[in-house]
Amino acid sequence: MEKGFYIITGTSRGIGETLSQNLVENGNTVLGVSRSRSDKLNYEKYHHLFLDLSEFTGIEKIVQSTNELFSKGSYDFLCLINNAAVLEPINPIEKCKAGEIETHIKVGLITPMILTSEFIKTFSDLDIRKKVIFISSGAGIKAMPDLSIYCSSKAGINMFAQSIGREQKNKKFGFEILSVNPGMVETSMQKIIRSKTKNEFEMVGLFTEAFEKGKVQENDNVIEKIKVMIKNKYTNGQFINCSEV
Ligand SMILES: NC(=O)c1ccc[n+]([C@@H]2O[C@H](COP(=O)([O-])OP(=O)(O)OC[C@H]3O[C@@H](n4cnc5c(N)ncnc54)[C@H](OP(=O)(O)O)[C@@H]3O)[C@@H](O)[C@H]2O)c1
Repeated sequence: MEKGFYIITGTSRGIGETLSQNLVENGNTVLGVSRSRSDKLNYEKYHHLFLDLSEFTGIEKIVQSTNELFSKGSYDFLCLINNAAVLEPINPIEKCKAGEIETHIKVGLITPMILTSEFIKTFSDLDIRKKVIFISSGAGIKAMPDLSIYCSSKAGINMFAQSIGREQKNKKFGFEILSVNPGMVETSMQKIIRSKTKNEFEMVGLFTEAFEKGKVQENDNVIEKIKVMIKNKYTNGQFINCSEV
């Protein structure tokens, strides 16, 4: 894999934390963003920005820090991984609160759109391999009751990736764009889902059964598949399931 500079959102736990750790341990530099910081990410090549991604003011800081850190090193790959997301509200739509819906869509959809826009604008003339990855979900292609906001934000991310993938396809120093469904991974998100009763979340049985049958993947397995997707080239804007890799 090339020596890369990565910007990864949502690095305090889960997929983002393990992916950051793996990339840094393999010689890459990571700028991670989340409201809290993982104790595991104490490396010289790991830099952290404490930001709430439901507030757009932080986006400028991410691009600024990327510019500063990137210019200090020598890299042959630059990659933005939009990974941060929230699950809540888990409720039928009439029970979802306006504030919860707003925060969810900001973190999972609007911030990734604005950050990607600023990222592409800033580095459009940079003549090295560049990639933007969106960590999506099967929920973006499969409707689920009580998860309408999550399903909608992931469907939006998929369409956004497809659209900008087509924009970038024929550009001189174009960005590779990819939308990735990791499948079920044992993180705090899965634990939140399994903690719901059937009354709260109609499809909870699907998730508890997958867990009991050992079908929920460990973080490390998924990270290896995501790394293959980072390395490989695909049709620009494509949606890919980790299970296909
Ligand atoms: N786990 C699964 O089974 C699964 C399945 C399909 C797709 N995915 C997708 O995979 C990605 C990672 O999920 P995960 O399971 O690793 O989730 P997770 O363990 O809950 O981690 C979510 C990360 O997002 C960050 N985040 C949430 N709200 C934020 C905010 N307002 N500002 C800044 N950062 C924020 C969190 O950091 P702070 O709380 O410290 O801010 C945390 O680092 C998500 O896009 C998720 O939709 C997961």
